[in-house]
Amino acid sequence: MLREMGLGPVWKLRAPTSSAAADEPGDSVAPVAQVAEMPPAAPSPATAAMDWSALAANVAACRQCGLCEARKLAVLGVGDRNADWLFVGEGPGAEEDQRGEPFVGQAGKLLDSMLAAIGLKRGEDVYIANAVKCRPPGNRTPTPEETATCWPYLERQIELIRPKLIVALGRPAAQTLLRTEIKIGAARGKCFDYRGIPVVVSYHPAYLLRTPLDKARAWEDLCFMRHTMKALKAP
Ligand code: URA
Repeated sequence: MLREMGLGPVWKLRAPTSSAAADEPGDSVAPVAQVAEMPPAAPSPATAAMDWSALAANVAACRQCGLCEARKLAVLGVGDRNADWLFVGEGPGAEEDQRGEPFVGQAGKLLDSMLAAIGLKRGEDVYIANAVKCRPPGNRTPTPEETATCWPYLERQIELIRPKLIVALGRPAAQTLLRTEIKIGAARGKCFDYRGIPVVVSYHPAYLLRTPLDKARAWEDLCFMRHTMKALKAP
């Protein structure tokens, strides 16, 4: 798994000694990073009341923005609806549009390897969703208007899942969730807050495929999120 992420040699955790323990982050969740928020999105009472089946039906039939014109399938999300972990990407690509499932192309393979590297598996205590549910033509970045229009769906997914930790993969996902300008390089390694749920950010797997040198940083981010979850679950 680490080889696939371009990471090597394989490192093993040292047995905990007092000096090793000093290198480890403490057993607590990192303090919440402060952000200057954009104004909140308009409330969406209809979506806010939906259960999973109403949400799935509404997303499948959605015509709220221009992205519906060229899509084959809207992509709601996939995984454990009671998951502790929620990973949020940008939007479906060509393969996701065909299959109706997020992260099934090359970036998805890398995401699966990243999950495996911290002992996680798609569908097992993990839910994967996107900031927009329909493929932006040519895989372009969704516009702020598109992410804002699609937001009520992700908002409702978060309400229904109530994850312990949200991982934003890439800038559009981070900005959609945190409603502020985000630079991944500056925001990684910090804990943000979304309505009481900690949010951490990392690089998008598609970016890592283009920029393999940043895989080492992504590995640090995986360790940080694993540590954060451990602290959240500590009694
Ligand atoms: N990239 C994303 O952000 N989401 C997907 O589902 C696939 C690729």
